[in-house]
Amino acid sequence: MALLKEGYLYMANRFERFDSNIFATRLLGGQKVICMTGKEAAKVFYDNARMIRSGAAPKRFRQTLLGEKGIQTIDGFNHENRKRMFISLMTEKRIQDIVRIYRREWESAIFRWENQKEVLLYDDVTVILTKTACEWAGIPIAEDEIVERAGQLSSLFQSGAKIGPKHWQGRINRNLLENWIQKLVEDVRDKKLEPKEETALYQISWFQDGNGKLLNTEVAAVEVLNVIRPIVAIAIYIVFIALSLYNYPAEKNKLLTGDRTLYEMFVQEVRRYYPFFPFVAARVRKDFLLEYYPFKAGTLVLLDLYGTNHHPDLWDKPDQFLPQRFKARRENPFDFIPQGGGDYIKGHRCPGEQLTVEMMKASLDLLVNKMDYQVPAQNLTLDMAKIPSFPNSKFLITRIKSRIHE
Ligand code: HEM
Repeated sequence: MALLKEGYLYMANRFERFDSNIFATRLLGGQKVICMTGKEAAKVFYDNARMIRSGAAPKRFRQTLLGEKGIQTIDGFNHENRKRMFISLMTEKRIQDIVRIYRREWESAIFRWENQKEVLLYDDVTVILTKTACEWAGIPIAEDEIVERAGQLSSLFQSGAKIGPKHWQGRINRNLLENWIQKLVEDVRDKKLEPKEETALYQISWFQDGNGKLLNTEVAAVEVLNVIRPIVAIAIYIVFIALSLYNYPAEKNKLLTGDRTLYEMFVQEVRRYYPFFPFVAARVRKDFLLEYYPFKAGTLVLLDLYGTNHHPDLWDKPDQFLPQRFKARRENPFDFIPQGGGDYIKGHRCPGEQLTVEMMKASLDLLVNKMDYQVPAQNLTLDMAKIPSFPNSKFLITRIKSRIHE
């Protein structure tokens, strides 16, 4: 409960209090948990000889965000096999395809927005992303179904850490979404539906697990949702892009010069600076010692993602928004980990990272170069005790004018 109540600051507060990158406590039903932060901690966390994922993800997240028996919960050969399939969906061509669909949908939304008094950016971008994700993944969706599905998909990543009705609504929505996608997987296997071979729906429907068998339809639905749900979740980063353009006008002015390397740096800093997933969970595979600190087999371990991205040993002025810090940054898989770290195939690092960055760059371009808008007075504060945390106002914009034909 302390973790759910203190949100992103739960671990940070204790690392500071204990002046340490590691502490043990009891959480999630009284079990012993080791919490860690920083680059060295990430190296240990992503070492397959020391950690496994099976049995690690807390139930409340499996029942909402993740689903049961998805890629996040498996290890070894089966994981690698499934992960290769996910990575194969993210070729350069397929990333260009999704960016093209997304830009088309956003540009047509700008014309609608011009006639509206106000727009809640988070809500409208969620709808655009749902439509984009479905088209890209080969999922048929009727025009009048999109808003409802957008709400259901966004409740999956909104409800994991909530208590009470919001959490239960997330569970209900997961069931509704899984039933919807299971039916589509069955239709693909019965040849009643024939999505293109390059799409996620096709690839997952026909994917053979380590034992040479098709996934059962429940697990296939979980994996299809593992593609479209996080695409919709990019809406949170897009609100953070709009928020940083508003909060840091000098950084926005730099973007007006059109230098594309600045766009990359800006979105990387958005991913570093703002909170998203607070931590990832694993279990100790077998007993080991880390600088005299005992890790007992089976113990739950949480790696602090947000804290590592703000760690003072790794980042100069970590609490300032400074895109130029990415100018000369050396790539390292363990210190910048908003979407997990380590190796993409062997480990659990997010396979959608490049897709996310490209969608964010497109969003930044659309907000900076393709439309004018006003940001009226509203509550833009982030509540760090809420997971995920984003502006309560959902980022209201008014007086939208297209600049598409300039
Ligand atoms: C909103 C942007 C995103 C964020 C913040 C994000 C974050 C994450 C994080 C923290 C993990 C867990 C890493 C770990 O367990 O070590 C993860 C895993 C994963 N993500 Fe993402 N992600 C995003 C976008 C995407 C996209 C666009 C896709 C696919 C289209 C995707 C698909 C996945 C999958 C399938 C996994 C599980 C990988 C595995 O267990 O091997 N994510 N993501």
